[in-house]
Amino acid sequence: MKKLFILIGLAVSSNVFAGAHNEPDSVYLFSYATTKNSNHNGLHFAWSRDGKQWQPIGNEYPFVKSDYGRWGSQKRMLDPYVVQSPDGQWHAVWALNEKERLFAAVSSPDLVYWGRQTYHLTEHGENVQKPVLGYNNGFSVYYASNGKYYRTDSRDLKTYSAVKEVSANEYQSRNVSIDLPGGKATGQQHKVAWSVVANMLQAYDLRQFKDQRYAENTRQDAHRFADLKPVKASIVVQAEAARPISDLLFGVFFEDLNYAADGGLYAELIQNRDFEYALSDKENRDPHWNSKHSWSVQGTGSTFNIDSAQPIHPNNPHYAVLETSATGASLVNSGFDGIVVRKGEKYVLSAFLKGAGKVKVNLVNAQRQILASAVLAGGGSWKQSKAVLTASADATDAKLELQPLQTGRLQLDMISLFPQATFKGHTNGLRADLAQTIADMHPRFVRFPGGCVAHGDGLHNIYQWKNTVGPLEARKPQRNLWGYHQSAGLGYYEYFRYCEDMGAEPLPVIAAGVPCQNSGEVAGLGGGQQGGVPFEHMDEYIQDILDLVEYANGTATSKWGKVRAAAGHPKPFNLKYVGIGNEDLISDVFAERYKMILAAMKKHHPEIVVIGTVGPFSEGTDYVEGWKLADSLAVPMVDEHYYQPPGWFIHNQDYYDRYDRSKSKVYLGEYAAHLPGRPNNIETALAEALYLTTLERNGDVVHMSSYAPLLAKEGHTQWNPDLIYFNNSTVKPTVGYHVQSLYGRNAGNEYLPGVMTLDNQQDAVKKRVAYSVVRDQKTKDVIVKLVNLLPVPVSTNVNLNSISPAGSAVKTVLQGRPDDKTAAPVTSNINVQNEFSNELPPYSFTVIRIKTK
Ligand code: AHR
Repeated sequence: MKKLFILIGLAVSSNVFAGAHNEPDSVYLFSYATTKNSNHNGLHFAWSRDGKQWQPIGNEYPFVKSDYGRWGSQKRMLDPYVVQSPDGQWHAVWALNEKERLFAAVSSPDLVYWGRQTYHLTEHGENVQKPVLGYNNGFSVYYASNGKYYRTDSRDLKTYSAVKEVSANEYQSRNVSIDLPGGKATGQQHKVAWSVVANMLQAYDLRQFKDQRYAENTRQDAHRFADLKPVKASIVVQAEAARPISDLLFGVFFEDLNYAADGGLYAELIQNRDFEYALSDKENRDPHWNSKHSWSVQGTGSTFNIDSAQPIHPNNPHYAVLETSATGASLVNSGFDGIVVRKGEKYVLSAFLKGAGKVKVNLVNAQRQILASAVLAGGGSWKQSKAVLTASADATDAKLELQPLQTGRLQLDMISLFPQATFKGHTNGLRADLAQTIADMHPRFVRFPGGCVAHGDGLHNIYQWKNTVGPLEARKPQRNLWGYHQSAGLGYYEYFRYCEDMGAEPLPVIAAGVPCQNSGEVAGLGGGQQGGVPFEHMDEYIQDILDLVEYANGTATSKWGKVRAAAGHPKPFNLKYVGIGNEDLISDVFAERYKMILAAMKKHHPEIVVIGTVGPFSEGTDYVEGWKLADSLAVPMVDEHYYQPPGWFIHNQDYYDRYDRSKSKVYLGEYAAHLPGRPNNIETALAEALYLTTLERNGDVVHMSSYAPLLAKEGHTQWNPDLIYFNNSTVKPTVGYHVQSLYGRNAGNEYLPGVMTLDNQQDAVKKRVAYSVVRDQKTKDVIVKLVNLLPVPVSTNVNLNSISPAGSAVKTVLQGRPDDKTAAPVTSNINVQNEFSNELPPYSFTVIRIKTK
């Protein structure tokens, strides 16, 4: 498997590493957990030579933590019970909380690496408390519940016999209480070979060592580089050794998070146009988040209610009812934090109306001055009415008012207002400035619709692509797990169309038949991965995925191709990649469904590159188990995710150099450098720029990458940092955006190796200067990227003898103080000969695009 556990430079100071001749043959080991932090701290160990004096391994270091259910309220480990079976394997069971009839089980070969966790739902008792694990030619799990005792047997801690009630005598816990330096603890005492403990101490020390390095940041630079003089670097490019790399390396990952879709990229200006906002969108925490959200009545004589009898479409059940006894009042929508309109621009108004008479629609500013108006007519049945409004003045906080022109009952739904000037002028289109800012990065692909949004919060929240295509009034909105509402107005059709507009490959991600591992509890099923799609529904679930391929690529006469053609795109979208799963917990529940989906894709669509998942982190159980699964199933590509501090990126520049070239290719689907406080600044941007040089160098194994997340609306941000912030009128690209953009606009499809020599051999210095050289075969341009994460300048001498530069080159430099969030790249024309010098300013990223003969 991967090489993560290889010690990077054994510079760790610990007696453990030295070894000693007088080490004991065996010692006592104590496994325990505490109730601190509401039982979230996982399984700890302490060891003792004599069973009296105990030494904790780390400061209550968690060797394994519970992965069950929601972050915060769940992921708890109550009363873990650890035993060793005769084959030497270790096993632990624990209770998950005080109320569910579930226990967890996990095994480990060495108490350091812990495999997949399983969560078993028992059929007896009110809950599972104080489980005890016994081994006698097989496992027995005993547990207590409400004064009674139960037992279930298992051969493998995966499948279990029916639960039986047992006597109190049969429930025998070997728990002991031990005085540890941190206080008394209850757990199990074991006798083990010293090597078991030595290995655990070594693992703990290695973790500390790594974490210390990863925590390095530029605030320590004044001290770290106190005596550092300007550095000299010489780079010799070896174009004769050029090798092909992926031409899809830089793309984007769009997720409807931080109001990225409704109120963001999706150009609709009316909030809650369909009256489908629901208390459940925010898990009943906000009484104002309901069908009336963003709507109010201004004036007297009309009452405003919500009804659901005979809606336009069952997927869109709620609509507004205005009962008007005296005309004059209006139904008002306040947009997403107000509506921005610009003088002279046209806005497309539409609404479904039912009821006799006409409605005057006014676009008004904060002072209620009319900026544009039109009259829409209702009818005896639901009928869509449209008009184009031209704004007579600018406004940032406009509202839309709908005023019935006669008394009586009027029903309204799907009240919509779009700028006519959407990106590429499409109807139901995208906000032009935001869409263009993304397009300016020249993304080679777009991954959508998530992230967590793709696999959802529980089974019922899994993103269903079929709910997001077809007429808007028939699409099925749903709760967005980031705590708001998802109208599905920006759906699969719009995603595909946007990809096509940008010349980017579409990369839809479909849940692997399991929801997010952090899902809330589902009554009777437990939380998280316990709620996989039931096997009897898997055929249907898989058919939906196969249908997606037909929707994208089928002929206009095929069942799903017809739906695409009806939307205005008879030609196929040429889908080549499909992601299955999003950083899932690699559990048995996941693996069973994942295999079924992969097999079906291989059988029916061998032409599609399936991208699997290897969990949310750059190491650990999901990563290891995910890669094992990918190896065994020969998955063409896997999606890796890691959000790490800048120090991680600095110290892991060889991460992909170490990858086995014969295995699955990699899509680095989510990554970002995270500092405390989560800024997007020059420090994080340069750490990313530095790391991206290594992706280009490994562009034979890393085929795609995308920073995450992409968009964030000011005032509605659930996650920081993001690449592009925006409000209703302004788009604010970050310094990280400039890095991504410089890579996207200066990508190549050939990597030109080289040799860099520095006049300073300190490890800390060498790791903060990076370069990569690529060639774009279409233009024959050679692009040199140079990163300086040092507080001093680096004068570089670049030898290009192997590439014949034509003389002219364009140089772009992004530089600033590490905490600078507003720096922008500066471009100049320079002359480049076979050998040229260039000074890299402190904390800078330089891109030199060179014309060749
Ligand atoms: O990018 C934000 C979130 O990070 C994604 O939804 C999820 O995949 C990851 O945890």
